[in-house]
Amino acid sequence: MKKIIIDCDPGIDDSLAIMLALNSPEVQVVGITIVAGNSPAEMGFGNAKKVLDFMGRLDIPVYVGADKPRKREYVNALDTHGEDGLGESFFPDVPGQEIPSETAIEFMRRTLKSGDVSVVALGPLTNLAELIDTDLSAFLSIERLVSMGGNFRSHGNCSPVAEYNYWEDPDSAKVVYDTLFEHGKKIEMVGLDVTREIVLTPQILDDMKQVNPVVGDFVEKITDFYFKFHWEWEHIRGCVINDPLAVAQFIDPSILQGIEAFTEVETGGISLGQTVVDSMGFYRKESNALVFTKVNKKAFWEMFLTRLLGMEASDCKVRFKEIFE
Ligand code: BDR
Ligand code: CA
Repeated sequence: MKKIIIDCDPGIDDSLAIMLALNSPEVQVVGITIVAGNSPAEMGFGNAKKVLDFMGRLDIPVYVGADKPRKREYVNALDTHGEDGLGESFFPDVPGQEIPSETAIEFMRRTLKSGDVSVVALGPLTNLAELIDTDLSAFLSIERLVSMGGNFRSHGNCSPVAEYNYWEDPDSAKVVYDTLFEHGKKIEMVGLDVTREIVLTPQILDDMKQVNPVVGDFVEKITDFYFKFHWEWEHIRGCVINDPLAVAQFIDPSILQGIEAFTEVETGGISLGQTVVDSMGFYRKESNALVFTKVNKKAFWEMFLTRLLGMEASDCKVRFKEIFE
């Protein structure tokens, strides 16, 4: 079992990612840390608790970190995730859950030093940049750092060139990428190039409800709003679920393939938040990122569906024909 901290901003797809991690025997979620992103940090805390409650895993601690980006004004993404940050499912708050006095950064400092804990980051990188400021050695002890964020050849989702997590707090993303470069380390960048391929369609959702009505109903309640948003903005029937792909990649590194390249994050101007991936080696700099460009969609869906719904792979292939044919 590999230990992970999920650093996130739940968030509809963050919630699906947490569900996948919790149903995966290869990983032990030692804690969930919240960052301001899709939803304000306090709302993200409440949403993480709602997901943990649904999964029967309120034993997993949740900590709250940064409530705004490093330098810029905070802009939430409730237009995408609904006014409650969970697709306007309006699940009631889990009673008796208070924000712990230990912050997300303090928790990371105490937990990461052992060197056998990885971080799967599903939101802006503000907490990690703060960790770098306060305890560089704890940051450098992260075993694997997988981040949903950025884009290489694909267009952005916040501007023509920028993806939300890095656009929201480009200064923190830059600190993280630059620090990794300085210390000869790498981030695994699960960007829009690969996550755009993962579309939860109405047909898949229908089948999920048939197979496991309890889980299917929960997923429907949180994704319905997301479906409408995607139709309005991208004319996609269904919704792109970005964050679970980062968890899947952590569990099975053969799901994604890509290139190693020196990567920098732009912090100003019209390309604010863009990941500039030097795939041609112009700068002659060592790579600090594994930038994914190809996804084995069938492998992702098999992992996601069997684990969320609790079904065998053979049944999954028969039931979800549209994916596996
Ligand atoms: C990322 O931004 C958020 O809307 C999602 O949760 C995901 O982490 C996609 O750009
Ligand atoms: Ca997210």
